[in-house]
Amino acid sequence: MGATWKDFFLVLILISPNFSASSSSTEIINSIQSLKDGETIVSSGGMFELGFFSPANSKNRYVGIWYHGIPVQTIVWVANRESPLTNQAGVLKVMQPGLLVVLVNDTGEAVWSSKRSSRSAHTPVTQLLDSGNLVLKDAEADDREENYLWQSFDHPSDTYLPGMKFGWNFVTGVEAYLAAWKTDDDPAPGDFTNHLELEGYPQLVLRRNATKVARYGPWNGIFFSGLPAVRGNPVYSLHFVMDKNIGVYYQENLYDMSVLRRLTLNSSGFGERLTWVNRTQKWEVRISRPSDNCDSYSLCGAYGICYIENIPACDCLDRFVPKDSEGWIKTDWSSGCIRRTNLSCQGDGFIKYSRIKLPDAQNSWFNDTMRLKECAVECLKNCSCMAYTQLNISSGSGCLLWFGELVDIRSLSADGLDIYIRMASSELLDSSVKKRRILISSLASVMGIILLALSLILYIRKTNKDSTKAEEGGKYNENKHKELELPLFKLATILKATNCFSIENKLGEGGFGPVYKGILEGGEEIAVKCLSRTSTQGIDEFKNEVICIAKLQHRNLVRLLGCCIQKDEYMLIYEYMPNKSLDLILFDETTGDLLDWPHRFHIINGIARGLLYLHQDSRLRIIHRDLKASNILLDSDMNPKISDFGTARSFGGNETEAQTHRVVGTYGYMSPEYVVDGIFSVKSDVFSFGVLVLEIVSGKRNRGFSHSDHHLNLLGHAWTLYKEERSHEVAEASLRNPQNLAQVIRSIHVGLLCVQQNPEDRPSMSSVVLMLGNEGMLPEAKQPGFFTERQPIVSQNSTTTNATNSSNQFTITVLDPR
Ligand SMILES: *[C@@H]1O[C@H](CO)[C@@H](O)[C@H](O)[C@H]1NC(C)=O
Ligand SMILES: *[C@@H]1O[C@H](CO)[C@@H](O)[C@H](O)[C@H]1NC(C)=O
Ligand SMILES: *[C@@H]1O[C@H](CO)[C@@H](O)[C@H](O)[C@H]1NC(C)=O
Repeated sequence: MGATWKDFFLVLILISPNFSASSSSTEIINSIQSLKDGETIVSSGGMFELGFFSPANSKNRYVGIWYHGIPVQTIVWVANRESPLTNQAGVLKVMQPGLLVVLVNDTGEAVWSSKRSSRSAHTPVTQLLDSGNLVLKDAEADDREENYLWQSFDHPSDTYLPGMKFGWNFVTGVEAYLAAWKTDDDPAPGDFTNHLELEGYPQLVLRRNATKVARYGPWNGIFFSGLPAVRGNPVYSLHFVMDKNIGVYYQENLYDMSVLRRLTLNSSGFGERLTWVNRTQKWEVRISRPSDNCDSYSLCGAYGICYIENIPACDCLDRFVPKDSEGWIKTDWSSGCIRRTNLSCQGDGFIKYSRIKLPDAQNSWFNDTMRLKECAVECLKNCSCMAYTQLNISSGSGCLLWFGELVDIRSLSADGLDIYIRMASSELLDSSVKKRRILISSLASVMGIILLALSLILYIRKTNKDSTKAEEGGKYNENKHKELELPLFKLATILKATNCFSIENKLGEGGFGPVYKGILEGGEEIAVKCLSRTSTQGIDEFKNEVICIAKLQHRNLVRLLGCCIQKDEYMLIYEYMPNKSLDLILFDETTGDLLDWPHRFHIINGIARGLLYLHQDSRLRIIHRDLKASNILLDSDMNPKISDFGTARSFGGNETEAQTHRVVGTYGYMSPEYVVDGIFSVKSDVFSFGVLVLEIVSGKRNRGFSHSDHHLNLLGHAWTLYKEERSHEVAEASLRNPQNLAQVIRSIHVGLLCVQQNPEDRPSMSSVVLMLGNEGMLPEAKQPGFFTERQPIVSQNSTTTNATNSSNQFTITVLDPR
């Protein structure tokens, strides 16, 4: 197959008359008019090489481009991919007025030709650039894209190289897209293609023949939705260009051209981003897509959402239900979901869904400059507009509207985006009323604090004059010293025991102020709780606690040994709890594992009994009002003891509930009726107890609980799993073993019964103790109160839509005594 005279002569005929024979030989390394099989040319920087090759297990000859400097032959482009030369010697030639052809050497028959450009050149030459781009241009022309008659970057095979413009060129009408090889031995276009599709808003679409396999997009100014890992970084920059005069394309540019990177659509339909690693002398796959089932196009149907961690993976979006519920259960998700409340068009609003891959934008409309509010207004104008979002999160502008059903949504915990989906007004009312009520109550609470502070100042002034006179309506407050029946400690004793309140003795900070450890002369260990003079929550709570707890005796309540009152110093002296508070062990990753199930169950039972005593068995009937993990102390045998009665209230024998103007408690543990309406009853404590049970089983805090799949809090999470009969998944992994399982599931069930929305539905503590202790049937748990912590932002009309005010609307804790 060596070059013959005849070939050389032919070349001379084909090339332009200006061509001088002296420059035709090896002096030109990257610019040629002809290349025979067996010859290659190398780009000027030595990165790429052009020549004839045969794939691994094939004898067919192709013209292609591969990396020059690496030992693994890696073909990045093939000219005659559909028409190989079999048993004939070939030649690549430049022809007038600007055409690149692959010919059979002997016959001159063309097996492949580049597309004819509308322009022509005097002296067309082909040149292999260091980017891997093979260009055809006039010999004298500069190396600029406008001067190219043709370039291989416009016609990639299966590989995207940095610098390539992937997509549409409106000037030439050419689309650059990837088509995978048929097999590793056959470069002919196979089943898989990857296009930048322009229907609606541009998106990257992977197809197998005509069928959509996966989709990424739309572009949000930083990355393609669903492809967050591909974004600008120190190695390369990304550009997405949309210009009706130029084209629509996506481009990656390397900062350091010596880095070898490519994106190849392999014959199995995976788009792989590869980097050459010099040390291992291998191509390493950095990203491979589709990556999992949830990448499968529209796996969960319309309004379905795919959670990769779930089994089964598909769920309906919140406020949607399966269209075909029987099929859905059998994991046939194709029919998707429908709104549980139909749209009425008039008066509809939007609900924000966060952390998702945006749905297919094939039926969409966009505007680059509109603000989010205008976007909502625009969407409301058309009854078939189903959702909107901000187009460019980097500039914070632009509007994208979806028409028709929303498909191909998946949950993305880290880099998901927000979308606002159209919803019937009744769905909005539900949450906005709730929100308003909570806002009102939080306002009331703020006022409450101010009033409290004022009254406290007045109160202190008053007590300075007359220390025996004190009053506050409604509160359990028979606070006369002589009724305390409580040993009084001398300050000197306390100072000695606590080593003058030395910092080494400090145990922590309570709702009142600091707590110190002390050792009495007899060797008895004590905990001394001081009333901080800066605390707004002060004397009342102190006295309240003294009175409450002094009269209570139960093995699951922390024992008050006495108090110490000296001028302005108020102190409570308790038995010392060597294992500190439950939260410190439970929520600490290093120690949480130490708490095995028998211990946890013991703790749950202990708290239940302590609470039962408070509610029913004690002389006073007491509502604790601030039950939480940090108020459960553990003695040396891990017996739980309820502490901190600063907010507790006693209530009369036949009183069942009371109302307060001051909502005091801790967010995450407070029941809805207490937070919203200030109504508290024993059932508010039951609610807190339920939260505590779920926290003990899961090892997670209700407040601040986060899950990659949803924005439910721990209660919502537990309830969702409970409904799917997957309760055991709520439990910490270490607890899920067969001996415990029944008890674990039962405890979760009891916990869920305690946190039901409606106080009447919640069991009393006596039932709870019974339920935990036996194995009888339990009633079905209904929806818990406050089961979404981070509510989607809601607006009834678009003018109140505001993406920035979605956080922290539910911070209603007035006082947060730890
Ligand atoms: C690649 O590694 C070899 C040794 O393994 C070294 O000689 C060469 O300089 C390296 N090349 C680059 C570009 O780092
Ligand atoms: C986009 O929205 C802006 C502001 O509402 C408007 O002025 C402009 O005409 C719109 N552009 C298109 C193409 O609709
Ligand atoms: C609503 O939008 C759809 C899709 O863009 C369009 O076909 C229809 O004409 C629009 N209707 C109105 C009333 O604008």
